[in-house]
Amino acid sequence: MSQLPELSGGEGLAVYLRYLQETVPDLALPKSSGRRGVERVPPPAGEAPPSSGASPSSNDPLEALRSEASVCRLCGLAATRTHVVFGEGDPHAALMFVGEGPGADEDASGRPFVGRAGELLTRMIAAMGYRRDQVYIANVVKCRPPGNRVPEEAERAACKPYLARQIEIVSPRALVLLGQTAAASLLGRSEGISKLRGQETRIPGFPGIRTMPTYHPAYLLRNPSAKGQVWEDLKQVMDWLEKERG
Ligand code: URA
Repeated sequence: MSQLPELSGGEGLAVYLRYLQETVPDLALPKSSGRRGVERVPPPAGEAPPSSGASPSSNDPLEALRSEASVCRLCGLAATRTHVVFGEGDPHAALMFVGEGPGADEDASGRPFVGRAGELLTRMIAAMGYRRDQVYIANVVKCRPPGNRVPEEAERAACKPYLARQIEIVSPRALVLLGQTAAASLLGRSEGISKLRGQETRIPGFPGIRTMPTYHPAYLLRNPSAKGQVWEDLKQVMDWLEKERG
């Protein structure tokens, strides 16, 4: 795990400037690495399960779960997906992010957060002092909702056991919920993200994981003026992690 930047005094300002720089689109950064129910859907002819490179006999619990998810038919999203976008990153990450669900780029590649919002998320992670492969990234639903619509309640519910198990296995020290869908799905609260963001909370069932809801990077692409608020939220998370390291 890389060192988190120091946040006191002039250094704090330097880190904020780096965050601003790294979250401005087009700035080059060093490359780091209608309602559907929960009916089971038959597999489309010829669909190959996405490969993680792990053998089916792997005793890695995250890979075993990935394998299970890769052939999931628990909701209607299975019928239109190209790939199941399970999640990626360090299986022992101290820091985990949860977004809403795959978009077109993620559906095509099988990887989370690789489109424009993903590029911004990668910059945010870098500004926090981490590389993408040092954190863990997942979504509320693992398959793309057609037209990038918000996943429906039944779809989120069908996918929730996968996400809950991912959180349990990774067992991060800090969890960042990106946007309304992630916050509502995991916290079970009805307030909007603008009310929830910036306040430490806990997910039911995971009392030991410090959790921070904040705006989704896609929202920041449309509303760049909210970047300062997100940075305030992320600074709190950095502070938690820094303190834990002592
Ligand atoms: N938005 C999300 O919430 N997740 C992704 O993986 C990509 C975009």
